[in-house]
Amino acid sequence: MSQAQKGICAEPNLHALYLTFTVVDDEVQAMRGKLAHVLDLFNHYDEEYYEAMVSGVIAIGTDYWYELYPRSIPQELAPFPDMHCEDRGAPITPGDLFIQIKADRADICHAIGAEVIQLLKPHVDLYEEISSFRYLDGRDLTGFVDGTENPKGMHKLEVAIVGDQDPEFAGGSYIHVQRYRHLMTKWQLLAEQKQEQIYGRSKADNIEFASDKKAAFAHTKRTNLKDPAGKSVEILRQSMPYGNMTVQGLFFISCACSPQPFTDMLRSMIFGDEHGNYDKLLDFTVAETGGAYFAPSVKFIKQHAT
Ligand code: HEM
Repeated sequence: MSQAQKGICAEPNLHALYLTFTVVDDEVQAMRGKLAHVLDLFNHYDEEYYEAMVSGVIAIGTDYWYELYPRSIPQELAPFPDMHCEDRGAPITPGDLFIQIKADRADICHAIGAEVIQLLKPHVDLYEEISSFRYLDGRDLTGFVDGTENPKGMHKLEVAIVGDQDPEFAGGSYIHVQRYRHLMTKWQLLAEQKQEQIYGRSKADNIEFASDKKAAFAHTKRTNLKDPAGKSVEILRQSMPYGNMTVQGLFFISCACSPQPFTDMLRSMIFGDEHGNYDKLLDFTVAETGGAYFAPSVKFIKQHAT
């Protein structure tokens, strides 16, 4: 299989910088070349500061993909799913390029980010920059450990990376990004037992509730799905907390070999089951951004650079 970009299956880091750009010109050949340069930048910093576990991802927004590589379209390329129900929604916000930079050093994330911006500057506007950090022992800011049920080892690749079913795009990944803002005051007013019911896991020691003890509205009930053949529907989550003393939330990132698993999970969260049991976590956090991207293999980016 073609080599996937290193940041897709990277292990959790201490820091991340997420840059979302809109592209302001139509100089696609220049952009293709610059994206290959960005990959070189990631490699350079990885070699120079190997102890910082540097990795990066370049992902191209669905609409911009048709401009950038019009002759090669990933089989399942699709816009971000448009979903709203009552006061629960998943807004779609601008994003032609999404760059994920992760490292165990905030200064390295900053240095790479500054060079990426310098390189892309004439062609892009920075729509949003978010710095994220590891919180305690890998917890979301709601206090619960996040990422426990993520696929592990070689299984990560099966879940997150396109295989030979789409040969030109083998090594690529469908990426969905949503920035959630937590309603922290409301969440903190909930008793711990209620918070645990909402996740379907215990807070302090992160133990999963037995399936028959989980509420239908629990986040882990609504996102733990099976396909018609009984196989688990899976994504690889690369989410990290972000925030300051005023605003806090989760920068949610899903990587998968198809856009379908994320779409099915989000639908289950927002619309709920046949009895209308939606994901109660959505009463305490609000999606403020959303974008669908494809992160092609290293080979694809390099091949299209000249
Ligand atoms: C599980 C947090 C949004 C998919 C979890 C867990 C936490 C968590 C704490 C339990 C531990 C773990 O296995 O990671 C959050 C927060 C979110 C959010 C704070 C938003 C603010 C989403 C979204 C999706 C998603 C949007 C997919 C559309 C999953 C999946 C699991 C999970 C697949 C594992 C379920 C299982 O098999 O037990 N999440 N999550 N999450 N989440 Fe989320």
